[in-house]
Amino acid sequence: MKSAHKTSRLPRRVVITGTGAYVPDRVLTNADLERMVDTTDEWIVTRSGIRERRIARDNEATSDMAAEAARRALAAAGVAPEAVELIIVGTVTPDMPFPNTACFVQNLIGAHKAVCFDIEAACSGFLYGVETARQFIASGSIHTALVIGAEKLSCITDWQDRATCVLFGDGAGAVVLSAGPEERGILSTVMGSDGRLTDLLQLPGGGSRYPTSANTLEKRLHYMKMTGREVFKHAVRAMSDAAAAALNQCGMTVADVACIVPHQANMRIIEAIRERLEAPPEKVYVNLEKYGNMSAASIPVALDEAARSGRIRKGDVVLLVGFGGGFTWGAMVLRW
Ligand code: ACO
Repeated sequence: MKSAHKTSRLPRRVVITGTGAYVPDRVLTNADLERMVDTTDEWIVTRSGIRERRIARDNEATSDMAAEAARRALAAAGVAPEAVELIIVGTVTPDMPFPNTACFVQNLIGAHKAVCFDIEAACSGFLYGVETARQFIASGSIHTALVIGAEKLSCITDWQDRATCVLFGDGAGAVVLSAGPEERGILSTVMGSDGRLTDLLQLPGGGSRYPTSANTLEKRLHYMKMTGREVFKHAVRAMSDAAAAALNQCGMTVADVACIVPHQANMRIIEAIRERLEAPPEKVYVNLEKYGNMSAASIPVALDEAARSGRIRKGDVVLLVGFGGGFTWGAMVLRW
C-alpha cells in the first residue's frame, strides 16, 4: 500500500491518566449465530478467533455506552467532568448524523466546558482521536481531553450475511489525556490513509451518495459491506509497517515493548502482524474471543483491560496499532 505515513515529532508530553470501558450485558455466542445463519462455531473460531460478542439493548445508543466508559475513565484518572476541555468520539455508528455523538456524551456526563466533535476513521477512529487530542494538548491550547472509541455495530450489521455478521460486536472504551511529566506519555505516532480502497469496506447507504430510499433498503445498502480477503491483506501490511515506523521514530524496537495492543479484528490478522514484527505471543494483548471486532472501541477496551489487570504497569512501553475502513491506519508508542 503506497501512501505516505503522517508522522509527528512530539514537543510537550501527553499522558493517559485514566482508562475506562463499557460493554453491554447481552452476549451473542457462536452457538446463537449457528441458529441465525449458515455457519458453525468451528468456522468462526478458526477463521477469526471470536467466540462471543456483546450486543447493545435496542434503547442503548452509542453515546450511552460512550458515556459509561467515559465516567469510568474519569474516575480512574481522578478528573472531574468540568475539567474536561475536549471530547472526541471515534465512531462509525453515531447516535445520529448530527448532532455529533461527543455532544451527547458531554450532556450525559456533565462536561459542560468541553469542545466536542466526532472523528470518523472506522476502526482507526480511537487512534486518530488520541493523536488529535494530543496535538491540542501538546500545543498548549488545552490541558485535559477525553477520547472515546464507541460503536453499536449491531445496528449496521447485516444479520443475514454470514461473512460479516459473525465478526462484530458493541462496546465503548475511553481514555483521559493530560499534559504530563517528560518521562511518560505518547512517544511517537504514525498515521496513514488510502482513499483508493474505499470500496473494500464501507456502509454505502444513508449518506449523500445513496440517500435512504425504498431502493437502498431493498438492496440492504444500510449495512456494512466488506471484501474480507482484501481487507485482511491490507490490514496486515499497513499495521505491521505502521507499528515498525512508530517504533523506529522513537528509537525503539519490539524488544523495548512490554505490551502490544492491536485492533481486535481477527486472530489471524493479529498473528500475522506479530510474526512480521517478530514479537513473542506473550507481548500481544488479545480479547477478541469475548467481544469480536468493536471497530473504534476495540483498542481502548483492550487497553483498559490490560491496564486494570496489571498486564500494563507504570513505566511499561506500550504499542497501539489499528486499521479500518477508508482505509485508515495508525500506530502509537507510549510509556505508561
Ligand atoms: N460461516 C461459514 N462459512 C462462511 C462464513 C461463515 N460465517 N463466512 C464465509 N463463509 C464461507 C464463504 O462463503 C466461502 O465459501 P466458498 O469457498 O464456498 O465460497 C468460504 O467460507 C471462504 O470465505 P472467505 O471469505 O474466502 O474466507 P476467509 O478465509 O477469507 O475468511 C474472513 C473470511 C474471516 C472475513 C477473513 O477474510 C478476514 O478476517 N478478513 C478481515 C476482515 C476483517 O477483520 N474486517 C473487519 C473490519 S476491518 C478491520 O477491523 C481490520
